[in-house]
Order: sequence, then structure tokens, then C-alpha cells
Amino acid sequence: MPSRKPRASNGSYAGLAAIVLAAGKGTRMRSSRAKVLHELLGRPLVAYPVELARVIGADPVLVVLGHQREAVEAALLARFGIGALSVVEQAEQRGTGHAVRLAMPALRGFGGIVLILYGDVPLLRRETLQALVGTARRYGCLAMVTTTPPNPTGYGRVLRDQRGHVIGVVEEKDASREERAITEVNAGIYAAPAPFLRTATGGLVARNVQREYYLTDVVARAAREIGVSAVEADYRDVAGINDRHQLAQAEALMRDRINRAWMTHVTFRDPAAAAVEPDVDLGVDVEIGRNVSLRGRTRVGHGARIDDGVVLTDVEVGAGAQVMPYTVAAESVIGPRAVVGPFAHLRPGTRLAAEVHVGNFVEMKNSEVGRGSKANHLSYVGDAVVGEKVNIGAGTITCNYDGYEKHRTVIEDQAFIGSDTQLVAPVRVGRRAVVAAGTTVTRDVPPGALAISRAPQIDKAGYAQKAARRYAEKVAAKGEAKPATKPAGKPAV
Ligand code: UD1
Ligand code: CA
Repeated sequence: MPSRKPRASNGSYAGLAAIVLAAGKGTRMRSSRAKVLHELLGRPLVAYPVELARVIGADPVLVVLGHQREAVEAALLARFGIGALSVVEQAEQRGTGHAVRLAMPALRGFGGIVLILYGDVPLLRRETLQALVGTARRYGCLAMVTTTPPNPTGYGRVLRDQRGHVIGVVEEKDASREERAITEVNAGIYAAPAPFLRTATGGLVARNVQREYYLTDVVARAAREIGVSAVEADYRDVAGINDRHQLAQAEALMRDRINRAWMTHVTFRDPAAAAVEPDVDLGVDVEIGRNVSLRGRTRVGHGARIDDGVVLTDVEVGAGAQVMPYTVAAESVIGPRAVVGPFAHLRPGTRLAAEVHVGNFVEMKNSEVGRGSKANHLSYVGDAVVGEKVNIGAGTITCNYDGYEKHRTVIEDQAFIGSDTQLVAPVRVGRRAVVAAGTTVTRDVPPGALAISRAPQIDKAGYAQKAARRYAEKVAAKGEAKPATKPAGKPAV
């Protein structure tokens, strides 16, 4: 319940806008990269609040940027696309209140609820925000997230009156001894009606120790005018990231949260050692081994097994497939019941149909491989179209690059490529053709034909004995080498 004038707002304050504050430098990261561009499970920090704002229906989403504005804007654009958010520039960081004030003109005429988030708070939960926005909307009040961390140092302290109603926030640097003893702190996340926020941020003054425009000053004003309601959250969920230790801790928490959620239907051999990024999708009965990284938009179909040390980035794995240890794949498709690895490398554009086998030390790139085909050992297949039930022998190499351009290799259904074959592209091996081991294929092989290009074999009888005799004679002629003598005593210094 808010501290003053609690009243239902009867459907007014329709609409939700969000302002994400991310102009700060993040000095404690000691980085040449803006703090909010540091990644947590593959996403820049700033993407978390922006995504959350969108998920709960905020539109528009405004992001206040300053430090490395262009780089941060580019990262946001790459992720969310043009038109998903607007950037407000804050060239000089004069405080959180100043940042929100600068964003308000972009919300001219907007009468709904404005949500304020920080770009460096990635673990915030959707439920917390929904409660916050719901409270602000229901009572027309300012709703704020508060928390009680084990160590409140550095945070603004929440001031309450004798009845327990929030009456303001005092920054640590401006706080008295008694105020610093307060353990409930301001998380910096708020929801409030736009008209109030517009007036309140317009009226801020920088009369404090830091000479900043404190957004926290609007809390005291809200307490007098529209009421304040606190939504309490777990301190771990609202922690800001200021240094790399906190970044690592937050990543561990996020990883744990994600993996736990998947454990409704996925088996993890060691959940602490599996990094599953937020956009990954896992089917029923998927098994994930140790030290696995599933990145980007990787999707794993039901019953597939991802073994130890596998790294998949934007890969689609079909149902029942087995990805054996230490396979690395990116932007590829692994068909249903296919078996890949151990130690296979699928580079972008590889598409394996159902039941394909790709074994150890096989590299593939930009190639399609048809159902049931096999390349089990030591091969490079690039820019190729391989049909169904093709056997690619050990050591087969597509010579796809002439130093200037890439060329295509086509291997039709049921062809048999013997071991140690080079396929000099562009070239085509016809259906059911056989390429003999050791062949360098430079011309198309007709369907059903045998292609063979080998230097003829010569056998020289008695060679081994002759060679041994020749060596023995050479040693005898030189005389036997004397063994090295050990020096007497230590060398003089
Ligand atoms: C602020 C709150 C404090 C609260 C704390 C929670 C104020 C005055 N104080 O502290 O009560 O306990 O958050 O973390 O609001 N930013 C801008 N432009 C600016 C200043 C900040 O965009 O001019 C952004 C930062 O990039 C960051 C966020 O706002 O994402 C918070 O800034 P920060 O300096 O970390 O917060 P404090 O002011 O220390
Ligand atoms: Ca500050």
C-alpha cells in the first residue's frame, strides 16, 4: 500500500514505457569497453533490461546512453533491430535524475506508467517488474524496488516513517550516521505515472555532496504527492554489476537459474559446468555433459545427447542425434539421429541430414550431406553437396580454393570415395561411382565408373638387406665413436 492517497486508478495510466539508464562509464570494470557491453552468458549486460522491458510490454523503450554511445547503440541495434528502441543521449553524466529528465521529452503526451531500469542490473526478475508496474498502475503511486543486502555500503538508504511508509531515500554520501545504519536500500528500479515523473524530474536540483541530479529525490516528492509503495526483492536479483568479480558471480547465478529451469526435462551431468545461453532451446530428454557451451540460438531436439566439451553456436541438433565429446560447431544443422564427433568441426553452413555420421578430425564447411552418408575420419569437406549413403574415406580432401575463389564439389548418391582422395573443385562424382584410394580427381567421374589415378607401384627385391649392409660398412669405415668422458670434479669458476 502506498503511503498517501491510496486510490484505484480505474484503467487510467494505460500504456507502459521504459527508460533504461546506461550512460555511465563503469570505471571499476577497468576496461576499454563500456561496462554495459560486457557480456553475461553471451549477451551484453544492457540487453537484459531492454529485453525484459519488451517482454513485459513496454513500448517505447528508451535507452539513455553516454559513454561509448555509438558502440552500445550498435550492439542494441544488432540484437533488437531498428525501431525496437530509441536512444537518448546524455553527453555528460550529471546523475540519474538528469538522465531521466533528458528522456522525458521523448515521452511527450504519454500518460501511462514509466518504468525505470538500469543497464547494469541483468538478474532482475520479470515477476518483480510486473508487481512494480501493477502497483504503480493500481494506485497511481511511485513504486520502487527495495532490498536488504548483507552489506548496504554504497547504496541509497530507504527512509520510512513510524508507520513504516517510505518517505524518501538518502544517498550514502549524504547520510547521517543513523541513516547509514539502515539496512534497507534503494535498488534504483521504479515505476511511476508519466505526468508525475515529468514534473518531478523537471524540478530536481543538484544540491547534494555529489552535485548530481538525484533521481532518488523524486521519492520524497512522491511520498508527499502521490504516495510511494515499496516492492521488496532478493538482493541477488537486483545487484548491479560494477566489477569483473560481480560479473562472474552474476553469470554463475544466471547459469544456475537457466539450468535449473531446464531440469524439468533435461539431464545435466554437471549443471555448474554447462553454460546454456538464454536463447537456447532444449527438448525433452536431452542430455548435457560436462564443460558444454550451448550458445546463441542453438536448439537441441528431444533425446539428443550433447557430450563433454561440446561447443555449439547457433546450431540445430535433431532429435536423437549424438554429439560426441569436443565437437565444435557453428551455424550448422545436425540431423535427427546423426552422430558427430568426437573432435569434429562443423563450420557455418554445414547441413547434415538424418543419420549422417561425421567422425574424428573431420572439418566441414558450407556443405550439405544427405541422409545416411558417412565421413568418419580425417577429412575436409568444404563447399560440397554430398548425396545420400555416400561413403567418404579417411583423409578425403575437397580442394575447394584456388587462391582466389571457392569452388563446388558434388558427390552424388551412393558414391564411394576411397581413402586419401583429393577432389579438385569444381568437380562432380556421379551416382554410385567409385573413386579409388589415393586418387586425385580433376575431372567429373561418370555415374557408376571407377576413377583411379595412381603412380604405378614398383617392388625392389632384397632392398632391406642391401640397405642394412651399406650402413654397417659406413660405420666401420669411420671407426667406432668414443664414449664421452665425464669431467673430473667441478669446473673451475
Ligand atoms: C543509484 C541510486 C541509489 C541506489 C543505487 C542502486 C541515485 C542518486 N542513487 O546510485 O539510491 O541505491 O543506484 O544501484 O539515483 N546513469 C546514467 N546517467 C547518469 C548517472 C547514472 O545513465 O548521469 C546510469 C548508470 O549508467 C547506471 C545507473 O544509472 O546504470 C545507476 O548509476 P550509478 O552511478 O551506479 O548509481 P548511483 O547514483 O551510485
Ligand atoms: Ca553515481
